[in-house]
This record gives sequence, C-alpha cells and structure tokens, in this order.
Amino acid sequence: MLVSTVSRMPVFLWSVGALSLLSGSLPFVDVPRQLGFVSPRPHGCCLKFSDLGTNATCTSLDLRYVPQDLPMNTIMLDLSYNKITTLYNESFVYLIDIISLWVIENRLQRLEEGVFQPLIHLKELSLQRNRLLSLPSGLLSSNRRLSKLYLAGNQLSFIPSSSLPLSNSITLLDLDSNNISTISPHDFSPLENCSLTRLSLMLNALHDLPSRVFSYLKKIDTLSLKVNVLSELHISSLLGNTNIQRLSLGGCKINGIVPLNHSSVTLDGLPTIIHLSLAPNKISSIADFTFWGLNRTNVLDLRFNRISVISNRSFCGLDQMMELDLSLNRLASLTSGTFSCNKMLQRIKLAFNNIASFSTDILSGLPSLSYLDLTHNKLGDVVSNDSMIIPSLEYLDLSYNEFKLINKFFLRGLTNLKLLNVSQNEIRDQYSDYTFTKLEYLTELYLTNEDFQGINTVFSSMVRLSKLDLSFSKLHFSPKSPFQNTTSLVTLVMRENQLKSTHLFSMSNKSIFIGLKSLNKLDLRGNYLSFLQAGTFSPLVKLRILCLSECSIKVLSPRIFSSLAFLSSLYLDQNEITMIPEDLLQRQHRLTVLDISNNEFDLIPRTLFNGTPFLHSLYIDGNKISKIEPKTMFPSNSTLSLDASRNPFSCTCDLSWFVQWVRSSNVDIIHPNDTLCSPSSFEEEVHSPIMTFHPEQYCGINVLAATCAPFAVVLLAVICFMAYRNKWWLNYKIFLLKLAICGYEEISHDFDSQEYEYQLNIMYIEDDEGWVNEVMKPVLQERFPHLQKVVWGDNNLIISMFYINALHYATDNSFKTVLLISYNSIDDAWFLTKLRIALEHLNDTRLDKVILIFLEDIEDDDLPYLVRLFLSRNKPYMLWTKNKDGQELFWAQFEKSMSKNKAFNNVIPV
Ligand SMILES: *[C@@H]1O[C@H](CO)[C@@H](O)[C@H](O)[C@H]1NC(C)=O
Ligand SMILES: *[C@@H]1O[C@H](CO)[C@@H](O)[C@H](O)[C@H]1NC(C)=O
Ligand SMILES: *[C@@H]1O[C@H](CO)[C@@H](O)[C@H](O)[C@H]1NC(C)=O
Ligand SMILES: *[C@@H]1O[C@H](CO)[C@@H](O)[C@H](O)[C@H]1NC(C)=O
Ligand SMILES: *[C@@H]1O[C@H](CO)[C@@H](O)[C@H](O)[C@H]1NC(C)=O
Ligand SMILES: *[C@@H]1O[C@H](CO)[C@@H](O)[C@H](O)[C@H]1NC(C)=O
Ligand SMILES: *[C@@H]1O[C@H](CO)[C@@H](O)[C@H](O)[C@H]1NC(C)=O
Ligand SMILES: *[C@@H]1O[C@H](CO)[C@@H](O)[C@H](O)[C@H]1NC(C)=O
Repeated sequence: MLVSTVSRMPVFLWSVGALSLLSGSLPFVDVPRQLGFVSPRPHGCCLKFSDLGTNATCTSLDLRYVPQDLPMNTIMLDLSYNKITTLYNESFVYLIDIISLWVIENRLQRLEEGVFQPLIHLKELSLQRNRLLSLPSGLLSSNRRLSKLYLAGNQLSFIPSSSLPLSNSITLLDLDSNNISTISPHDFSPLENCSLTRLSLMLNALHDLPSRVFSYLKKIDTLSLKVNVLSELHISSLLGNTNIQRLSLGGCKINGIVPLNHSSVTLDGLPTIIHLSLAPNKISSIADFTFWGLNRTNVLDLRFNRISVISNRSFCGLDQMMELDLSLNRLASLTSGTFSCNKMLQRIKLAFNNIASFSTDILSGLPSLSYLDLTHNKLGDVVSNDSMIIPSLEYLDLSYNEFKLINKFFLRGLTNLKLLNVSQNEIRDQYSDYTFTKLEYLTELYLTNEDFQGINTVFSSMVRLSKLDLSFSKLHFSPKSPFQNTTSLVTLVMRENQLKSTHLFSMSNKSIFIGLKSLNKLDLRGNYLSFLQAGTFSPLVKLRILCLSECSIKVLSPRIFSSLAFLSSLYLDQNEITMIPEDLLQRQHRLTVLDISNNEFDLIPRTLFNGTPFLHSLYIDGNKISKIEPKTMFPSNSTLSLDASRNPFSCTCDLSWFVQWVRSSNVDIIHPNDTLCSPSSFEEEVHSPIMTFHPEQYCGINVLAATCAPFAVVLLAVICFMAYRNKWWLNYKIFLLKLAICGYEEISHDFDSQEYEYQLNIMYIEDDEGWVNEVMKPVLQERFPHLQKVVWGDNNLIISMFYINALHYATDNSFKTVLLISYNSIDDAWFLTKLRIALEHLNDTRLDKVILIFLEDIEDDDLPYLVRLFLSRNKPYMLWTKNKDGQELFWAQFEKSMSKNKAFNNVIPV
C-alpha cells in the first residue's frame, strides 16, 4: 500500500471549473465557490490506495471547502475537524465512487439540495456535530444504498424524514443531541420497511409521545429515547404493530405511567416490545394493570426509580414477562401474589430496596423462577417457618441483609440451587446439620463477613460444590474433616477466619483439607499460621494457587509444600519468615509466581530455585537481603520479573556477582528506583539504585580476575612453561641486556695479562677433574685462546713450596680464582681450606677476584657456611648446566668475569 499526499497526485479538475479558470471568466458567481472547486495548493490530505479505491483523510486541515483535486476513485473521504460551512451541490460531482463520507465537527449550516445526488454508492454518511438546523427535503432520496446516517450533535428540530432515501436501506439513524421536541408517527414512515439496528433520539427535547408514535417501526433492534423530558409515559404511545427488541426510555424524568384504557384498545394493535427499560426515572408507584397491553414484553427494567408501592395486580398484563428488575427502588415489602399474573417469570431482581419482610408465598406459583436477587435489603428472617419451596430456583442472593441465623428449614425446598450467597449478614450461628443438606446441586456458596460460623458437616452433601468462600468471620470447624465429601471443590477462600496452624493440622496428624483432591486455589490470607505443620497441605494434590499472605508465618518447615507438585503461584508475602529452607521448592516444577515480599529473611539459598525452571515472577522486596550469594541459581528459562526493592543491599564487591548477573541476564527489575544501596555500601553508592552501581569501578582486580581468570591461568602456564624450557636463553638475553645497559662502568680492575703471573687459577678436587678435562679445557682452548697461563688445580702448583703456601701463591698471583663446587668438593676439608684462602685474598684485595662455579645444583642446606656467606654478599657464581642455551650464558658470564675484577668495599667476615 502506498501513502502519498495530494500534491504528488495528478490534479483532477472539474472540467467546467478548469475551463473557467483558463478563460478567466467565472461562470459561478461567488469567489468561495471558485476556491472550492479549484484548489491550486496541496491540501495535505492523506491518501491510501487499494484495489477497491482511494481512502482520503483530510482531517484537521482548516479546510473551508471540499478539495477538488482528490483522485476520482476515492471511496472514503474524511473531512472531519475542518471549517467547512457549506456543501455545494457540485462539491462531490467528480467523486461518484464515495462509499463513506465523514464531515464531523465542521461548521456546516447549509447543504445544497443536490449535494449528495451523485453519490449513488454512498453507504455511510456522518454529519455529526455541525450547525444544521434542517436538511433539504429529498437530500438523500437518490442515495439508495445509504445504510448508516449520523446526524447527532446538530440543531435539527424535526426528524428529517423527507430527506431520507427512497429505499429501505437505512439500518442506523443517529439523531442524538439535537433539538427535536416533537415527533409524530409519520416521521418514521420512510423507515417502515427498513430493518433497523438502531434508531436513537437520545438527548433531545421530546416532551410528549403521541399515541402509536412508533407504529411504523416494524423491525428495529434498539430504539433509544433516553434523556428527554417526557414526565409521563402513556402506554398508548407504544401501541401499534411495532416490533422493537429494546426500547429505552431512561432518564426521561417520567414520574407516572398512564395505563391503557382497556375499552379503547383494539387487540390487533398490541406492540411487541421485548425489552422495555424505564431506568432511571422518577416513578413512585405502579398502579394496577399499568403495563396492560405489553403482553409480549419479556424484560421490564424499572431500576433506579422511586417505587415504594406495588400491588398484586401491578404487573398484570405482562403475560410473558421473564425478567423483572426492581433494583434500586424504595420497596419495603411485597404483598403475597405480587407476581401472580406473571407465570413466566424467571428472574426477579429486588436488590437495593428496603425490604424487611419477605414471605415465601410471594414467590408461589412461579414454576420457572430460577434467579432471585435480594441483596442489600433489610431481611432478618424469613417470615414463614416453612421452607421456600421453589425447586426451579438456581440462584439466590441474600447478601447484605440482616440475617442472624439461617433457619434450618429455610433452604430445604431449594433442591436445585446452584449458587447461594448469604454473605454480609450478621450470622452468629452454629449451622444445623440440616441447614444445607438438600443443596446437592450447589456449585457456589458464599458465607463471608459473618460474626461467627460453626461449621459441622454442612458441606458433606455438596458433592458438586466448586467454589466456597468463608472469609471474614470467625470459623469453628467441629468435625475433623469438614471437606471430606466436597471433592469437586476447585476454589476455597478462607481469608481472615482467625484460623491457627493447629486448626489446619490437628494433634491427630490430620489435615483439615482431606477430601479436597480437586482444589485448585486455596486462599488463607490473614490467618495466624505461625508454625505450619509439614502435612498441612498434603491432601491438595491438584493445588495451583496457594495464598498464605499476612499469616504471621515465622517458620517454614522444609517439606511443607512437598505434595504440591502442581503449584504454580505461591504467595507468602507479609509474614515474619526469617529463613527460607534451601529445599523448600524442590517439587514445585511448575511454579511461575513466587511472592515472598515483606518478610524478614536476609538470604536467598543458592539452590532454592533449582527445581523451578519456569518461575517468571519473583517478589523478594521488603526483606533484609544485603547480598545475593554468587552463583545463586535464579530461574532463567524466560524473562524473570524480579522485585527486589526495599532491601538493604550492601553495594560492595560482595554484590558484584548479582549486579552483573542482572545486567547480563533476562531480568526485568521491578521498581528499580526503590532498589537501593544501603548505608553499608561504598560511600558514593549509598541510597542510589543498585542498578547504577558498577562494581568494576571498585572491585577491578576481582572483576578482572573473575573474568580473565581462565585466560590468565593459561597464559601464566604458557609463560612458565616457555620460561622453563628457555630459562637459560632468557637469562642469557637478560644478561646481555644488562651488559648493554650498564656496560662496564663500575670501578673495576681490568684484565691485564702482564700484571699477573697467572691469568686463571682453577681449584677443584680430583673427582671433578673429568669435567675440567672434558668441558673446561676444550672450551678455553677454543674460545679463550689468550688464556694460556692457567693453574689447573693442584697439578700446576709450585712443587717446591709447601702445599698451603703454594695455594696462597697461586691465588695471590692469579687475575681470577675459580672454585668448582660440587657435592663432593664441599665435603672435602682441603677444598674448604682453598675456599678460605680465596676469600681471605678477596678481602685483602677488595677485588672480586673469586668465582664459584657450581657443577651441580646444591641444596641451600647442604652448602658450607663459607659458600653461603659468599653468596649472601652477591659475589659472582655460575651454574653449569646441560642445557645448550644455559651453557652459552655460562660462557658469556665467564668471559665477562675474565675481563675485569670489580672493586668492593665490604669485607666478608671470614
Ligand atoms: C478505507 O476506509 C474503509 C472504511 O473506513 C476501510 O474499511 C478500509 O480499510 C480503508 N482502506 C484503506 C486502504 O485504508
Ligand atoms: C444546486 O443548488 C442550487 C441552489 O441551491 C439549485 O438551484 C440547483 O437546482 C441545484 N442543482 C442540482 C443539480 O440539484
Ligand atoms: C430548540 O428549538 C426551540 C423551538 O422548538 C427553540 O426555541 C430553541 O431556541 C432551540 N434551541 C436551540 C439550541 O437551537
Ligand atoms: C413498505 O412496503 C409496503 C408493502 O410492500 C408498501 O406498501 C409501502 O409503500 C412501503 N413503504 C415504504 C416507505 O417504502
Ligand atoms: C396478548 O393479549 C391479547 C389480548 O389479551 C391476546 O389476544 C394475546 O394472545 C396475548 N398474547 C400473548 C402472547 O399473550
Ligand atoms: C459422603 O458421601 C458419601 C457418598 O457420597 C456418603 O455415603 C457419606 O455419608 C457422606 N458423608 C457425610 C459426612 O455425609
Ligand atoms: C526451559 O523450557 C524448556 C521447555 O519450554 C525445557 O525443555 C527446558 O528444559 C527448560 N530449561 C530449563 C533450564 O529448565
Ligand atoms: C527512575 O528514576 C529515573 C531518574 O530519576 C527516571 O528517569 C526513571 O523514569 C525512573 N524510573 C521509574 C521506573 O520510575
């Protein structure tokens, strides 16, 4: 479908108008007329095209004239809310396809005679809320398809019958809110053969209805004359061969009904008015035979009148009356036989009167009576001690009366009663075993708002009972299982019945609910159930809705709901629960709504919702929750509506998980602005909504750790592994880096081969000679060929000297002394002597002339004291390794050591 504005459309000009514009001479006299025909500017009408034609909506555009450039195939034209005053008989000449034409709320005062004549397809015409005083006669005579005509809200003073189409097409004629003060039968004659759904003359100024005024209305569903000023209704006005389904004369200030003069009535002229409504009016009494003549009327509605007196002949003549509504009148009593003429009565409504006494024989002889509404009266007792014997009665409402007890015979004749309401009386009664025994067909029973009700076996015959409401009265159950036989009960309401936990589950371990195997909904709001016993609800295997709000519950036994596998809604709000058992809901797989708001618990057990995947509404507002355990298993199968407001949430890092979970899950937070951080939060967050709390601003590391932990662990592992595999390479590189950065800037004693007798003095024990020969010597030859003057252990000591002196000499005269440390060497006493000599020399020269080379990795504990001392002063040492990179590093370090002797200050206390 395409939407466009008029401006884009080809302009359709009425040919004469166009010609006249071109020629410059206007055949039509006045300027408005010219403007009306040819509109050079776009109008801003909204056009909708379809196969059937174009819909043009030109509302609220301040138009003064009907646009002349609409598509010719326009079928719907809405010109409402503009400023059109006149419709000219050329206005629609080019729009002959129009089916619906709406000119609502303009300033129409004048319609030219032939204005609608071209619109032969017109079905719907609305001229509501304009300023029409009359319509030209013949206005719609050629609109033979016109079906709905809306003329409400004008100032018509007559029914425009001469303007109506010359066909029987009209189905709806709306003349509400005009100024029509008189009507005559002939006004309706053009509608004689029409099949009307509605004819409305509401809110006019009718003050009189002539005799037989509707006699031409042969077939009409609803005829409304509400809110006129008739003041009196003459039944004679209604005569005629009319057939009106529903005639409404409410709000017409009628205070009296004038009956027919029997003798003057011809019997063939009795009207058919199925439903006659006279509500509201000011009728105060109904004289004998008032409605005589309306013997085809089924429903008479007399609500909202002032009727205080009726006799037992008031309704005679209403032979076929099935429903009589006398609610909201001023009746104080009814005489016996009041309805004796109305054998077909099925429904009598007497609600909201002042009826204080009601004798059962008022209703005698009504074989079809099924519905009796006596609510809001002043009945205290039924006069007769006999039962009402009305086997047909199915609905009886006696609520809001003044009954103090229910006479045990009262209901015995109502053997087919389906609904009984005796709520809102003043009953203080231990019901007799017999009071309700005959009510085998009862499906609904309301006994609410009484003073006290003693329940014995009264329900035992109600095998069909489906709804029972006993709320708002003190209840006393004398049998242990009052519901044993009410196996069909679906809804049981016992609100504020002053029940205690022990009433529901007795000492003898029996639940009061035994027998309620069909129960769907149980409402126990407002009782005193502080310590519910585990078996209380076990008979309720079909229960879906359980309401335990405001029950002063303090302790929930973990298995209290264990038999309720069908539970879908559970209300535990407004109790005093301080702790929710972790496995409370393990069998409630169907639970969708859980309300535990306004209690006193501070913790949601982490696994509480393990068994409730379909929960979608969770109310935990108004508790003492300060934090939610991380990884609490909230249900997540659908969007969860969560009300957690009015809890003292502590917006600290402990709440991080919850806040992040809410942000990342399908959770709809209810009352976010009342879900606030408590004073125990981070200072900046106190009293702000928790949903504005961003824990990552405070708890970064944790958050990073939490989110990156797996990654970080892997990365670290990789680094460790790589570092381990390449530790020597890494050390080598770091060594070179250090070298590059620091250079050789330290105060040092550079190698000068000339200065020393020996370049290198290597001290080791015999056991390590293998390493020296296999490793050290070849490398020295290859990589350090300049090192020619080397003392290779004891072999090269000066033989002529004493051993100790020779050691001293070698050490003193070498540029560098190297000691090879191994597990063997450190056990050797002579080796330790050599070490001591070397260190003493070190101290003497204050030069780092000694290097320890570890041939193997020796445990700290096994190291001799001297070695540890040496190492603790950051003295140079090197570790031999089998790793190739490690060896590279080793030789690089060696090379560096051989290049200089660093000076130092602090001596080693040897
Ligand atoms: C045109 O208006 C008629 C009557 O209001 C309506 O039923 C129809 O759907 C409309 N067509 C388009 C295309 O809007
Ligand atoms: C149009 O209206 C004028 C004046 O109201 C009237 O004289 C004329 O006959 C009308 N034309 C038609 C075609 O009805
Ligand atoms: C209604 O009609 C009466 C005459 O029937 C007239 O006096 C009165 O002004 C009209 N009221 C309006 C609002 O047109
Ligand atoms: C209604 O139908 C009857 C019988 O066909 C006919 O005589 C009468 O003229 C019709 N009335 C109208 C207003 O068409
Ligand atoms: C209505 O009353 C008339 C006259 O008493 C009688 O001829 C006609 O049969 C009655 N119709 C019904 C439906 O009772
Ligand atoms: C319950 O119903 C059974 C059979 O439907 C009946 O035999 C029994 O008497 C009833 N119990 C009471 C307490 O009426
Ligand atoms: C969610 O619902 C589907 C059926 O609607 C069910 O198959 C699935 O197991 C549910 N998921 C969970 C976590 O219970
Ligand atoms: C919450 O408060 C903010 C800011 O005051 C406001 O914009 C928002 O509409 C409020 N939301 C509700 C649900 O009240």
